[in-house]
Amino acid sequence: MAEDLINYKDIYFPSYLGTNDKLITLLNRASQTLCDWFSKADKNGPLPFDDNFKCIMPAEDGNSEEDLFSEIESLLNNSFNPVHPGSLAHLDPPPLIFSILGDLIAAGLNNNLLAYELSPSVTLLEESLCKWFAKKIGFNDLSGGIAASGGTLSNLNALIAARNNAGLATNPNSVLLVSEDAHSSFVKCIRVMGLDTTNLVRIKTDNQGRMDINDLRKSLDKCTIENKKIFAIVATLGTTVRGAIDPVKEISEICKERNIWLHIDGSIGGIFAVISIPIKGLNNINQANSITINPQKIIGITKTSSLLLVSNMSTLENTFNTGLPYISSKENIINRGEIGIQGSRPAEVIKLWLGLRFLGLNGIENILKSSIKRKDFFIKNISKNKFDIYSGPLHIVSFIPKKLDPEDSDTWTQTKVNELINNNFMLSRPKFKGRYFLRVVMGNYNTKESHIEELLRLLDA
Ligand SMILES: Cc1ncc(COP(=O)(O)O)c(C=O)c1O
Repeated sequence: MAEDLINYKDIYFPSYLGTNDKLITLLNRASQTLCDWFSKADKNGPLPFDDNFKCIMPAEDGNSEEDLFSEIESLLNNSFNPVHPGSLAHLDPPPLIFSILGDLIAAGLNNNLLAYELSPSVTLLEESLCKWFAKKIGFNDLSGGIAASGGTLSNLNALIAARNNAGLATNPNSVLLVSEDAHSSFVKCIRVMGLDTTNLVRIKTDNQGRMDINDLRKSLDKCTIENKKIFAIVATLGTTVRGAIDPVKEISEICKERNIWLHIDGSIGGIFAVISIPIKGLNNINQANSITINPQKIIGITKTSSLLLVSNMSTLENTFNTGLPYISSKENIINRGEIGIQGSRPAEVIKLWLGLRFLGLNGIENILKSSIKRKDFFIKNISKNKFDIYSGPLHIVSFIPKKLDPEDSDTWTQTKVNELINNNFMLSRPKFKGRYFLRVVMGNYNTKESHIEELLRLLDA
C-alpha cells in the first residue's frame, strides 16, 4: 500500500468520519470564552478592558491549544465591546444571537457565493432573501439583489450598474449627485470608478438635513450647461450624523422626468421600510432603481450583511457578467459572482436569514421601535436651553452646547467624550459643517431608560 503523503496523527480539519469530538470540545470552549467576555462588559464598559494586546505572529511550530485560547482571551479583552448598554457611539449594535450561530455555520460550511456549484443552497437562499426584501419595499417581479461586504460596496455595485446602464461607463464627464450630508464613502466610490471629486456634485441640504430640491434642480441645469452627464442621483435614507431622510418622492419625480437612475442609500434607514412603524419620508422608495439595505447597522445582524436591491436584475447581469470559464453553470440559476463586484464571498447571508427568521417581522419591528423610543426619550429629556439638537425621524441625535464657538467645539467634545467614557458611556464626535458635535446612536437594545437618564445627568453636569 502506498505510504501516506502526510502525517494524519494531528487533527487539522473536520473529519469526514467519526464524531469530531475534538472540534466539539474546541467549539464549546470557544463559546464559553466568548460568553464570559460578553458578561464581563457589565463591570468594564464598552472600551477594551486591557491595553496590552500582543500581535504574536506564527512561529516555526504550531502553538498549543492553551496558548491559542490565552491569545483569544487577550484579543477579546483588548476589543471594543458592543453589548455594553453604554455603547452608543456608532452604528454597531450588539450581535443578534442567531446571527452569531449563522456566522459559525457559514464558517463551517465554507461554501462560496461565487458560484452555484460551490454554494447550492446558499445561492438560492441569497437570491430568495433579496427577492423577499425587494417585494417588501414594493419592487415588482423583475427585481432582486446581491449581498456585499458593507454599505460602501453595495452602493458601489449600484453606482457602477447605474453608470453602465446610462452608457457612460467610460465617459470622464459622467457625474453623480449626492447631498452634502451623504456618507463620505461616495468619495471613495467615485475614486474607485476612475473619476475624481469634480465628478461628485454635492447638493445643499435644508435645515432638517434633507436634500434641498431647489438646489437639486439648479445643479441639474448647471450640469446640462456644462455638458456633464449624470449617471445617478443618490437619496439618503438616514444620514450618518443626524438620521435625516431625503425627499424621495420629489427626487424620484425629477429622476423620472430626466431619465436618471435613482439610488437610495438606505444603509441606515432602509430596514425600516420592511415593517409598519410610520416613519416620515419612508414612502415611495419603490420608485428607485436601486436601494442599499444594511441590517448590520441597526438590528444586530452580524457584520457584514448589506444588500443591494435593484428594481431590475438585468441591470446587474449586464454590468457584471463576464463569464466564469472555470465554473459550470446551471440553467436558470445565476452564479452570484456574476452580478456584483466581489468574486469569492462567504455564505454570510446565513446569519441574515437566521437572524430574520428568528426575529420575524414582529421582532424586527420591536427592535426598531425600541431604538426610536430611546431616541425620543433622550430628545424629550435633554436640556433644550443648553443644547442645539440635530436629529431626524430615525434613532440618531447629534448635539452641541448653544452658542459654542466652532473652534471650541473640538476641545469641548473631546473633554466630554473622555468624561463620559470614564463613566462607561461611549459617544462619537463627528465633524459636521465645520464643527464637532457629540453624537448618540440609540440602536443598542441593552440600553434602558435608566441608562439614558444617567447619560443625561452626566451631560448636564
Ligand atoms: C448612510 C451611510 N451609507 C453608507 C455607509 C457605509 O457603510 P459601511 O461602513 O457598511 O461600508 C455608512 C456607514 O456608516 C452610512 O452611515
